Parts: sequence; C-alpha cells; structure tokens
Amino acid sequence: MINAKTELYGIIGHPVSHSLSPLMHNSAFKALGINAVYLAFDVTNLNNAITGIKELGIKGLSVTIPHKEKIMEFVDIIDDSAREIGAVNTLLIRENKIFGYNTDWLGAVLALQEKTELSGKKAVVIGAGGSSKAICHGLNKHGASIHIINRSIEKARELASNFNAGFSGLNEDKDIYGDILINTTSIGMTGTDTQGQLPVDDKFIQNFKVIMDIVYSPLQTPLLKSAHEKGLSTIDGLRMLLFQGVKQFELWTEKLPPLEVMQKSLYNKL
Ligand code: ATR
Repeated sequence: MINAKTELYGIIGHPVSHSLSPLMHNSAFKALGINAVYLAFDVTNLNNAITGIKELGIKGLSVTIPHKEKIMEFVDIIDDSAREIGAVNTLLIRENKIFGYNTDWLGAVLALQEKTELSGKKAVVIGAGGSSKAICHGLNKHGASIHIINRSIEKARELASNFNAGFSGLNEDKDIYGDILINTTSIGMTGTDTQGQLPVDDKFIQNFKVIMDIVYSPLQTPLLKSAHEKGLSTIDGLRMLLFQGVKQFELWTEKLPPLEVMQKSLYNKL
C-alpha cells in the first residue's frame, strides 16, 4: 500500500523503458514488507534530474547508460572502487548527502564466484568499454590475471595498462588460453546487427573452462550455446544484473536481500 510514508527509489538512464531493475527491486521490497517503491525515470538532462533529489527525499537511485560517468559530478562522497572504475551505478542519499558506489564489479565477481574461484586464475575479457573496466576491476581485486581482447587495439592497450594485463585485437591471437572467458561487448545481442553472432572464433571458446556473457537478451547467447555444447561451465547475463542489484538493495536497506525472489523476478520475465 503506497501512503505518505512510502520511500522512493528508482533508476535514471536513457532509455530505461526495458529495464528489469524496477521488477527486481519492487519484488524485493514486497518480499521484505518494506514500504518503498522503485520507479524508472527516463532522464536526458542529468543536471535537471539531480536538482531535486535531496529535497524530494529520494533514498536511492540506480544509474545506468548514459549517465554512469557524468553522475560523478553530482555525488558528494564517491566510494574508492567507483572512483577507480570511473563510474557510479548506485546513489544512496543519507543526511542530505549523495553517496556514490559501483556495484557492477561486485555483481560480476559474485556471478563468477558461483562457478569458479578467482585467485590465481587467468581471465580473458572481450571488450574494453565501461562494463569491461568494472569487471576487470573485480578480477584484479580478487587476484585473477587479465588479458583484454578488443576490436580497437588502442582501447585494449589503454585498459590493460591499468591492470598489468595482456591485450590483443579481436580474433588476432588464437593461441591464448585461460580459465575464464568473458564477453562484455554487445555482440550476439537481440536487435543489434551482430544478433546470432559469436564474439570470437568458435574454436577459441574451447581454450577456456568457464564462459560468461553479460548479454542477457537472448539469455542463451550464441557464445553460451556454443560453450554449453562443448561441455563448458556457463554464466548467463542475468547473473551480473542480479548480483549488482542485490548489492544495491543491501546498500539502500541494510538488510539481507531476498536473493531467490529477486532472481525469480528476472528469470520469470525472460
Ligand atoms: P559498455 O559500457 O557496455 O561496456 P562501451 O563502453 O560502449 O559499452 O564499450 C563497448 C565495447 O564493446 C567496446 O569494447 C567495443 O569495441 P571498440 O572499442 O572497438 O568499439 C565493443 N563492441 C561493441 N560492438 C562491437 C562489435 N560489433 N564488434 C566488436 N566489438 C564491439
């Protein structure tokens, strides 16, 4: 029941109409009997959107594309990992201050840890954008070594220099082996011109044991389908989304998030 005491949370981004976060967080509030609601705000002008959040008493926000970097200008206190990654995906508003966090890297770590240890493992990460940076931060923090593969070699080189990582161009080096292969690009995503495609050569996939994709539409991407057929361990794109949301919920409510409920809300939808 929404009343005068209902607390307001939400997501700001553009576009946000397909976001699964409202479903995930509202199901969690309901399960724990918390009088709060989580809405999607389609924001193009970040400056205007942020002006009223303290005065309106908004308690927390998720921040998504294209605002994760620019939002940092409006945050009073930025957490160390978010600063290192250079992106904030979570705002917590407390005592008239805006705190900024990044839970994407934590989401990736928790998703990976369901299937593998990270310390001492070798991870090959495809892509060198914002998602890749957050994931590499997590891998590095947990003691995995990293090799970055990217279409633009310059971007791979630049990102690799932060993590003492190796790098190469996409499909340039077939003799790279490792424990974990992670796709952070949109290759294979429904509705893109790479729909149905693999991010790397099919044979390359068997050089690894655990294959993770951050694309969740379709849930079984061509990469994960191929990995599954090869008998490899797979991690679908909803796992990282789920766990970054779980960490947000924990920050906002300081309660143990209802993992099963949040998970069900996502998988039922897809
Ligand atoms: P995100 O924040 O989701 O990581 P991003 O910062 O725009 O998005 O980064 C997208 C990444 O996916 C980049 O590494 C990009 O490669 P380039 O640096 O060469 O542009 C990669 N990417 C996206 N679409 C791709 C495609 N069709 N083929 C190869 N790489 C692609």
